[in-house]
Amino acid sequence: MISRLESLREAVAVSPQNIPLLLLFAQACLDELCFEEARTAFDRILQSDPAHAKAKLGIARVLYLSGNTSEAVVRTEALTDADPGFAEAWMLLSRLAAAEGDRNLATQYYQKAIRLNPHLSDAIEPDSRIGQVTSPALPPGNPGPDVDSETWEFLGESEQGNEGLPDILKPDISFASVGGMESIKEEIRMKIIYPLQNRALFQAYGKKLGGGVLLYGPPGCGKTLISKATAGEIKANFISIGIHQILDLYVGNSEKNLHRSFQLARENAPAILFFDEVDALAADRKDFRESAIRTMINQFLAEMDGNIGSNEGILILGATNAPWHLDAAFRRPGRFDRIIFVPPPDEAAREAIVEILARDKPLKRLDPKALAKRTRGFSGADLKSIFDVATERALSRAMKEGRVVPLTTEDLLQAFKDIKPSTRAWFESAKNYALYANQGGFYDDVLNFLGIR
Ligand SMILES: Nc1ncnc2c1ncn2[C@@H]1O[C@H](COP(=O)(O)OP(=O)(O)O)[C@@H](O)[C@H]1O
Ligand SMILES: [Mg+2]
Repeated sequence: MISRLESLREAVAVSPQNIPLLLLFAQACLDELCFEEARTAFDRILQSDPAHAKAKLGIARVLYLSGNTSEAVVRTEALTDADPGFAEAWMLLSRLAAAEGDRNLATQYYQKAIRLNPHLSDAIEPDSRIGQVTSPALPPGNPGPDVDSETWEFLGESEQGNEGLPDILKPDISFASVGGMESIKEEIRMKIIYPLQNRALFQAYGKKLGGGVLLYGPPGCGKTLISKATAGEIKANFISIGIHQILDLYVGNSEKNLHRSFQLARENAPAILFFDEVDALAADRKDFRESAIRTMINQFLAEMDGNIGSNEGILILGATNAPWHLDAAFRRPGRFDRIIFVPPPDEAAREAIVEILARDKPLKRLDPKALAKRTRGFSGADLKSIFDVATERALSRAMKEGRVVPLTTEDLLQAFKDIKPSTRAWFESAKNYALYANQGGFYDDVLNFLGIR
């Protein structure tokens, strides 16, 4: 349906005054969450026909879907006032009431809508429809064509140049290389590792393996590390995708790269598909006026939903320092619906990290507890910097003396003075989002961490 939107867009460009066409196009934009484009198209209809009720309802829908509930209510009520028989408007009012938490009113409006138009009763819940870019899921038992004509196109082109195609990794690090993070390791075991290892059991209970887990938190606290270590823990395929492998200056190429990555995972299932710095790819579409980036995000959503190819046996792991840039559509069920906060290491975790960093280094009288005690607010990466600075100093001493000089706790404490803890700045931003934009309790863990709740 991406191509359907594209062809509608072209058709509208050719005949910009064709109202039925504009309406079709605007609805398609809405289906693919291209809100601004939808809004523009509905507005254009109203310029030619100011009384066009469907276009007015369309604008109210845009407002509802982009979170502007109060304006949506005002506009929709105006429609039911003007025409009390407007079933779809009552249905939207029902959803708006539900969005505002008024279940009684929502039920009342819903029944009104159904009385006026019984066909509306089998309408899908609005949320499950959002982001369904392509055809609905195939019925069970029908494997369906794994690749559609668009895919063949992608594959054909991928043969011409495979640069940037991600590799299937078998990382050699495991959880033992990650200090602390015990509860996160356990969560990853429960949500990723055991399901992968017990796929048959899952299937016996009629459960499908799939979905996404998002790790977020301040930089340098081990999100990338634990993701790679997850791959090392299991013997499944791990495909790591860097932004540079996806984003491409040429319009359309980013979608192809994204699609190839998903196809690679599908061909190698069971697999973990890891998107590091995922906010860059899954950025809030509101932040982008360029439709090229929005198109890519919609493609990402459609790939995640398994609308383009089956995602059975694929777990998607994402990591981000900037969860507030992530489009909310990515948090819907079946996408990144499991969200894990990766906090800065506590004292015990810092001690464990120091021990890991100390491996394979010439050390004397190392006291990990002493270092852990003094490094509150330091990330794992900050601790690593302390080791790097101290090592450099020891090395220059060693070169002067012409022999190996071991690192001491004093060296580390000396280096510690030069390194500032880096996680505080992150919490400054995160706190604002947690206090003022905590939709669905997304940032509850941050609030708990800060002791605000
Ligand atoms: N829990 C940890 N255990 C061991 N090393 C860590 C840990 N957290 C961070 N580090 C060190 O800091 C580096 C940066 O961590 P990284 O995983 O890239 O952070 P993030 O992805 O959260 O920004 C790692 O390569 C590792 O050397
Ligand atoms: Mg990282």
